[in-house]
Amino acid sequence: MNKVNNIPADLVMVIFGATGDLGRRKLIPSLYALETLGFLPERMAIIGAGRTQITNEAFRDDMGKALHEFSKEEDKSREREFIRRVYYQQLDPALPAHYEALASRLEELREQLNMGAANTIFYLSTPPALYEGIAEGLAGAGLHNQADGWKRLIIEKPFGYDLESARRLTASLQQHWDEGQIYRIDHYLGKETVQNVLVTRFSNGIFEPLWNRNYVHHVEITSAEDIGVGRRGGYYDGSGALRDMVQNHLLQLVGLIAMEPPASMQADAIRNESVKVLQSLRPIDPGQVRDVAIRGQYIGSTIRGQHRKAYREEEGVNPASTTETFAALKFYIDNWRWGGVPFYIRTGKHLPTRVTEAVIHFRPTPHHLFARQGSCDSCNQLIIRIQPDEGILLKFGMKTPGAGFNVQNVSMDFHYSDLSHQRIPDAYERLLLDSMIGDSTLYARVDAVMAAWEFITPVLDAWQNDPGIPVYGYPAGTWGPDVADSLIEGDDINWRYPCAALTGDDNFCTL
Ligand code: BG6
Repeated sequence: MNKVNNIPADLVMVIFGATGDLGRRKLIPSLYALETLGFLPERMAIIGAGRTQITNEAFRDDMGKALHEFSKEEDKSREREFIRRVYYQQLDPALPAHYEALASRLEELREQLNMGAANTIFYLSTPPALYEGIAEGLAGAGLHNQADGWKRLIIEKPFGYDLESARRLTASLQQHWDEGQIYRIDHYLGKETVQNVLVTRFSNGIFEPLWNRNYVHHVEITSAEDIGVGRRGGYYDGSGALRDMVQNHLLQLVGLIAMEPPASMQADAIRNESVKVLQSLRPIDPGQVRDVAIRGQYIGSTIRGQHRKAYREEEGVNPASTTETFAALKFYIDNWRWGGVPFYIRTGKHLPTRVTEAVIHFRPTPHHLFARQGSCDSCNQLIIRIQPDEGILLKFGMKTPGAGFNVQNVSMDFHYSDLSHQRIPDAYERLLLDSMIGDSTLYARVDAVMAAWEFITPVLDAWQNDPGIPVYGYPAGTWGPDVADSLIEGDDINWRYPCAALTGDDNFCTL
């Protein structure tokens, strides 16, 4: 990473739910990565807070194990120093006295570590049902008060369950906390390749003039995962693909792809532009949900002799569940730049490969002078590959050598892996650092979260209340229900079928 200014000298980070999956897999390894880069505050303590009664030592051991299991850092030399920053505090979120005890513990630690300012980040990595209670409990003990140092609250998704619950949560948080103190984390915004959308668009003169309804035919976003819900069935069954991926990650990505150039790189300048996109999404008419939104659920299949479970057989999932593990949507952005350009999003679990990418499909030439080899569907595409094989690919037509003027499609590609001297930081690493330096650019602002809920709520409602809208089954390991093709095929185009390698999509990608 580049040089970072404004790292505070003093900080305590309290992680609620630190021993959970996210804490062990992402938060602790990312904090360690920041340690190896020298980006942690000089005097910093990390406190795990949870119901279980364990000692500091036992917690340190556990976090040490998490590092061994999940940290990708080659530099292990700072591990001991890092683990010494870690403490544990038993806390039952329902008991006000426990927040008072946390407040006293924070004071003691600050004294012990000679901290000047009482800067504190509270990271809520707990089940969402606890967010309101914890935010209130902290405020009850005065831990939101910024007189002696700033206080920030990081909240993991899901931020609400639908528009109504998101509004309630917002109102409850804002009783005690200012919007400027609330950091809603959406880890997609922390991905290097997602941020690069802004740089690609606004640091080059060659793309922006074409980035509008006059030259773009349609935009396609795919976010596929090749694994099922695994052990997260309990959470996922109450969520589904639309809430889990579209409401947050993919609509935030749409915001960056479709927004107007911001006036500056200030957090609010960028967030103002991205929210305008979300507020311009054409509302989906409840009567049309079945035509513009397709839902699917994976069913059992056998891949290379290995049986893959059906979603309904997964641990924690209701055997009669109608929760979608695949969702595809067609929608429009009603503004001057994008009027009439269809956007297509699809996402799902247990698809053939893990890939996330956005594809800008440019309009074909108005008159075809040349005979084409192969389909013209894939000429003039700009593919922004979020993961894996992060990079950018531009497809265009070239003369096939020899007689005549036949045209074939070729690709120009850039892969992040070519920058061998640069590591790509994990999204959490970037976002945690930003929360320490008070940069909320890559955190979702409340109006954007609400606009996204407003957009998808009619679809959620129709899926829940209209049993006539089918949940299509698709065999695990395929590209979702066939009927999803009809969303896009009606427009005489096709979904792209990307493979793990950015340039490897010429063959239909199956397992
Ligand atoms: C999470 C979802 O927010 O994002 C998961 O809850 C999903 O279901 C994950 O697997 C995908 O993140 P990434 O970074 O692996 O694309």
